[in-house]
Amino acid sequence: MKILPSQTEELKDKVQKLKKEKNAVVLAHYYQEPAIKQVADFVGDSLELSKKAAQTSAGIIVFAGVHFMAETAKILNPERKVLLPDLNAGCSLADSCEPKSFKSFLEDHPDHVVVTYINCSAEIKTMSDIVCTSSNAVRIINSIPNNKKIIFAPDKNLGDYLIKKTGRGMLLWDGSCMVHEAFSIDKLLELHKKYPSARIIAHPESERHILRAASFIGSTSGLIQHLAESEWDTFIVATEAGILYDMQKYFPDKTIIPAPAKENNSCACSECAHMKLNSLEKLYACLKDETPEIILEEELIKKAALPINKMLELSN
Ligand code: 13P
Ligand code: SF4
Repeated sequence: MKILPSQTEELKDKVQKLKKEKNAVVLAHYYQEPAIKQVADFVGDSLELSKKAAQTSAGIIVFAGVHFMAETAKILNPERKVLLPDLNAGCSLADSCEPKSFKSFLEDHPDHVVVTYINCSAEIKTMSDIVCTSSNAVRIINSIPNNKKIIFAPDKNLGDYLIKKTGRGMLLWDGSCMVHEAFSIDKLLELHKKYPSARIIAHPESERHILRAASFIGSTSGLIQHLAESEWDTFIVATEAGILYDMQKYFPDKTIIPAPAKENNSCACSECAHMKLNSLEKLYACLKDETPEIILEEELIKKAALPINKMLELSN
C-alpha cells in the first residue's frame, strides 16, 4: 500500500519523537530509501556505520540496513538493544558463504590469514582473523606480513580487485553480490558513448569488466567523496541506486546517471531488494514495539568481536 506524502511527514515526526523518548539512534546505509535517511541520525558506508555503532551511547540502535550490519552493531554493543526494521533484510553476498562449507574450505587450506569482508554472517566472522570493508580493505591487506598466505572471502570481485591493487596473491572464496553483478558492460559502454564527457565510477563489488571501464573505484562513501573532489560534472554510477539520492542532494549541479543493468534484471537500474525490504513504516513500528531485535549468543558475540575490533583498531 502506497502512503501519501502527508502520512510520510507524520510518520517522520513520530519517529523523531520516539527516538528522543527512547534514547534511540537510527543508523542508515546509503542504499536505504530517502524517507529513512531523512530521519536517520547518521547515514554512511559500512565502516562508518560500524564506527558509529561502536561509539554510540544510545540505549537502542535501530539499524536501517541489512542483517549483517545490524549483527555487527550488536556484536559491538552486546548490552544494547539492536533493532532491524525487517529481519528478512539479508544479503546475497553474505548468503553466498555458508559456514559449514567455509569451515571445510579453511581446513583444506590451512596456514592462511583469513580476511573476511564485513558482508558475511557472525558465524563466518568467528572463523576470520580480521574483517574489512570496501573502504579499508587495501589497508587491512597491506597490514598482513608479506610472508603470510591470505584467504579472502566472500566476495570474489572485491578480492580480484584487491589482488591487483595490493599485488598480494590471495585465495578467493567464490561469492558475489547479485546487485553488483547485474550491470551490463555493453549497455554501460553504449551509455558512455551518449555521454562521452561522463566519468564512470564503480563500487569494487562490481565485476572486473565494469571496474576496468571505471575511472574511480570506491566504497559508497568513497564514491560520494570522489564527486566532491572531482572537477567533472557528469558521472555514471555503478552501485546500488539508492546512493543517487545522496549524490544528487550533495551535488545538485552535477549530472548523476545510474549504470544500466542487464535486460533480465527486475530494475532498469540496480536496486538491492534486501535493503529495500526496510521502509519508514517498518522503521516506525520497530521503534515503537522494540522488535524485531537482533539476538546473538554470548559466545558467538565474543568470538566475532575479535576480528571486527582488529579492523576498527587498524582503521582509526
Ligand atoms: P559500503 O561499505 O561501500 O557501503 O558497501 C556496503 C555494501 O553492501 C555494498 O553492496
Ligand atoms: Fe548485499 Fe549486494 Fe545488497 Fe550490498 S547490495 S547488501 S552486498 S546484496
